[in-house]
Amino acid sequence: MGDIPFTKNRTGPEREAAIRAAVNSADRLPSMTQHSRLAVAGDESIFLKFLESPEVHNWIYSLPKPLTMESVAAFIADGLSARERGEGLLSLNFDEDGAVSGYTEVLIWPEWAAGEVGGAIRPDLQNRGQGGAGMAATFTWMFETLDLDIICNTTALDNFRMQKLFARMGFEHKGDTQSVRPDGTFRPSQIWEITREAWLANVRERSS
Ligand SMILES: CC(C)(COP(=O)(O)OP(=O)(O)OC[C@H]1O[C@@H](n2cnc3c(N)ncnc32)[C@H](O)[C@@H]1OP(=O)(O)O)[C@@H](O)C(=O)NCCC(=O)NCCS
Repeated sequence: MGDIPFTKNRTGPEREAAIRAAVNSADRLPSMTQHSRLAVAGDESIFLKFLESPEVHNWIYSLPKPLTMESVAAFIADGLSARERGEGLLSLNFDEDGAVSGYTEVLIWPEWAAGEVGGAIRPDLQNRGQGGAGMAATFTWMFETLDLDIICNTTALDNFRMQKLFARMGFEHKGDTQSVRPDGTFRPSQIWEITREAWLANVRERSS
C-alpha cells in the first residue's frame, strides 16, 4: 500500500462504484482558460511542445522521461485508460490561438474516496493567479461532483510556490515521501491533504 493518500478510509463498494462512474462520465474539468477539453490521441505534438519547457516538466514527477512524441502519446493513452477505469482524467487548456496553455491531471483512488491533482501552466502565464483559481475550482468540483472525502497532493521539497498555495488554501502538510517517477527513480515530495469538510468550510468563509 502506498504512502498516499495519507488518510485511508475504505469506502463501501457502492460508493466506490459511484465514484468510478462519475470519473468515467466526466467530459471536462473546471478551467479558467479560453477553451479546455480532455486530452485525446493526436494531441501529443501540441502537448509535447508545452511540456518541453523546463519551467513546466522539472516540477512534475509523473511525466514521462524522456519526453518524446511516443512517450507523450503513451501518457495521453494512460490518461484515457484511467478515465475508462474511473481512476483519472487528463485535460488540456488552450489559449485564444489554440496553443496549449496548461494541463491538469486528476488521479483518483475510488476505494479511499480520495484524489490528487497535478498540472502546470505555461511559463509566460504563471504567477498571475490563474493556477491558484483553477486548482481551487478543480478541488470544489472533485468534492462536489466526484463525491470525494480527501484531496491528497504531493509537491517537490523545493516547490515553495506550490507549498505556499497549498498552505493558503487550507491544506495540511502531513509529512514527506518518495514519489516514484515512471522510469522507477525517486523524487522526494511533501504530502499535503485536505478533507471535504475543511475545504467546503473554507470556500463558504471566502464567499461570505
Ligand atoms: C504551480 C502553478 C500551477 C501555479 O499556478 P500560478 O498561476 O503560477 O499560481 P498563482 O499565481 O495562482 O499563485 C502563485 C502563488 O505563489 C506565490 N509565489 C510565487 N513564487 C513564489 C516563490 N518562489 N516562493 C513562494 N511563493 C511564491 C505567489 O505569491 C502566489 O501566492 P498568493 O496567491 O498567495 O499571492 C504554476 O506556477 C506552474 O505551472 N508551475 C510549474 C509546475 C508546477 O510546479 N506544478 C505543480 C506541481 S505539484
